[in-house]
Amino acid sequence: MGLIRERIAIDLGTAYSIVAHEKSDELWRIPSSIALDSRTKEPVAYGEQAKMMFGIGSQRHEVIRPLKEGVICNFEAAGHYLSYLVSRARRNPLALQYQVLVCVPWGATAVETKSYIDRIQSFRTQIRIVREPFAAALGSDLDVFSSEGCTLIDIGGGTVEISTIAHGHMIFCSTLRSAGNAMDQLLIEKLLRNKFFEVGENTAEEIKINYGSVFLEEGQTEKEFEVRGLDRKTSCPGRMSLSTETLRDYLEPLSLAIENKLKEHLRHLPPESQLNVEEKGVFLVGGGALLKGWSRRLNQRLGIKITIPSDPHLAVIRGMKKILREPAKYESILKISEGV
Ligand SMILES: Nc1ncnc2c1ncn2[C@@H]1O[C@H](COP(=O)(O)OP(=O)(O)OP(=O)(O)O)[C@@H](O)[C@H]1O
Ligand SMILES: [Mg+2]
Repeated sequence: MGLIRERIAIDLGTAYSIVAHEKSDELWRIPSSIALDSRTKEPVAYGEQAKMMFGIGSQRHEVIRPLKEGVICNFEAAGHYLSYLVSRARRNPLALQYQVLVCVPWGATAVETKSYIDRIQSFRTQIRIVREPFAAALGSDLDVFSSEGCTLIDIGGGTVEISTIAHGHMIFCSTLRSAGNAMDQLLIEKLLRNKFFEVGENTAEEIKINYGSVFLEEGQTEKEFEVRGLDRKTSCPGRMSLSTETLRDYLEPLSLAIENKLKEHLRHLPPESQLNVEEKGVFLVGGGALLKGWSRRLNQRLGIKITIPSDPHLAVIRGMKKILREPAKYESILKISEGV
């Protein structure tokens, strides 16, 4: 009997990680959080449960995000978390070996990339690495091997990566090491400074997801909504009203930084790639692509066509599943992407 081997893909993200199995259509999207017992440092909760514990302020537990700005920052917690992710995707209890495909940002250094391999290899698995922009492009149904190439922008939790790919190579990549999580922080700061009102990270993210925008969409009107938190004027829990327009203003410094990064990226492209952007436009992926108004904003301000594929936050894992299913076809980008 041959060795039973399972193939798993992990999109390890700063905010959310997504796990897939080659033989399943199911995807597991899990917050990149882990709660450790403060005394023993043993994991007590993972994912959603750990994320909910964040901000409760229990002295018995510490909630850790093992990644920062797209790369591992807490090695021990990352090891526990990766082991948990692999266990979530496992299907065959008799499997003796795992092949794990993991993505790393283009901007990750060789040392950072090696830290991924070291964390996972302790589970006696074979590791393959793909750089995130290649997976994102494949997951957006773009042909990374074509001579015309493609440009895409991935707005994640910790990083924004803008990539232009052609002939299976990275032509040019720009990275901004602040993204969705930084928007949540910005909102917390602005509410505190301007309204003397305190909200936690999870609430800030919820407000952004439910009411946030970077530009007013056609036919949309501004509206008021209620925010619950701690009123610093009275030091009591309270409610306040905020408008979608004010929220957009609060998020504007980061929206503008992303827009400017894209502008700068396009200026640095060789003429062929610039022509390609003019014809095909730019693809927008990552959870941050779900913020309302990006297409209209970038189209009006930069004069480019923007395409957001369906479920843009799943683009990377979709691309990784393509690689899992046809590894031979994508061997060259895995090799090119390795660089360790
Ligand atoms: N509907 C939504 N509207 C606005 N923002 C959203 C929405 N859904 C998710 N986000 C934001 O997208 C970000 C997470 O995106 P994604 O899952 O692509 O990041 P990640 O892969 O974890 O991070 P990175 O790639 O930087 O390591 C979070 O900041 C989250 O708040
Ligand atoms: Mg990501």
